[in-house]
Amino acid sequence: MAGDWVLGIESTAHTFSFGLVDGDGVPRPSESDTIRPDKGGIHPREAADHHVELSTDLFQRVLEKNDITPQDIGTIAYSQGPGMGACLRIGAAAARTISTQLDIPLIGVNHCVAHIEIGREQCGCDDPILLYVSGGNTQVIARLEGRYRVLGETLDIGIGNMLDKFARKHGIPFPGGPVIEQKALEWLATNPNPSLKGLELPYAVHGMDLTFSGLMSAANRLVAEGHPFEAVCWSLQEHAFAACIEVAERALAHTGKSEILLGGGVACNQRLRDMSTIMCAERDASSHCPPRMYCIDNGTMIARLGWLETRHGRQTTLVQSGVDQEMRTDSTPISWP
Ligand code: ATP
Ligand code: FE2
Repeated sequence: MAGDWVLGIESTAHTFSFGLVDGDGVPRPSESDTIRPDKGGIHPREAADHHVELSTDLFQRVLEKNDITPQDIGTIAYSQGPGMGACLRIGAAAARTISTQLDIPLIGVNHCVAHIEIGREQCGCDDPILLYVSGGNTQVIARLEGRYRVLGETLDIGIGNMLDKFARKHGIPFPGGPVIEQKALEWLATNPNPSLKGLELPYAVHGMDLTFSGLMSAANRLVAEGHPFEAVCWSLQEHAFAACIEVAERALAHTGKSEILLGGGVACNQRLRDMSTIMCAERDASSHCPPRMYCIDNGTMIARLGWLETRHGRQTTLVQSGVDQEMRTDSTPISWP
């Protein structure tokens, strides 16, 4: 007889990851591997090949680490979208294979909602405004009438994608976000009170929406004009993060909610976390951030959402199990409290 653990498979882009939750939905750390191209961006086909090569290894590692056997697994969850088609299809194929072989149910889940739900589980917040900041996505989200509604979002590229592209132009390989954070800290260490004078960049807020590509071009121009690279990294972070926090603050004001929850890979950034804490303190709200291993893409968040969905009666048949590259945050009904 199958057990009651849920296995989650994440494969939307650069990271292939297997994670677990136990029968009570308690998260266990994932086993993951991220493709890091020597030069250029991520090619979907190469990322998909990377995922194929690693699938058996990651599956075995996550079972061993948690001291369970395949028979302990009762449900297979996988990222059904959004993401790169070639990558998503590898995760879905692995999920179908394991589901068929073990004769256990399959559940395809929404990757963006998974970022939100692992954050809620980890931080214990109730009804937050979500600032979801990752490579491909930048959204301010609130739960209203059974869906996670997008109140504002990027109109061009995701904030993480902007940081990665800026970094790449200056010789820093993927992922560029953590290196830009380091460079900004180096600038602060030598200039404890930096000024934005001479380092001004366009402001990315448009009503409740955001744009980042103009900011990136202007930052590239500052480097070309001879400003220190570390100083530009600092200024780029200040401008991009302030824009996100401003929209999140306005979402708090409009909805009357009193919690902010950060999620997605860029939420690993300490400066963004600090800005959110300061803004929340100023308006009697609270700021929450999951541990970094649950901000970046991970299989555990997929397992957690799979656990929630199946407990509320959802299941994916083989016929329904195709991937959806364009899946939207608000396309998934939320039936749990
Ligand atoms: P999604 O499909 O949700 O858009 P993703 O594929 O972008 O996810 P994530 O793991 O959620 O994957 O986020 C990766 C992004 O996070 C990269 O752009 C990376 O540069 C960025 N990132 C990671 N750590 C930091 C950091 N410390 N500061 C800024 N950005 C960071
Ligand atoms: Fe993600």
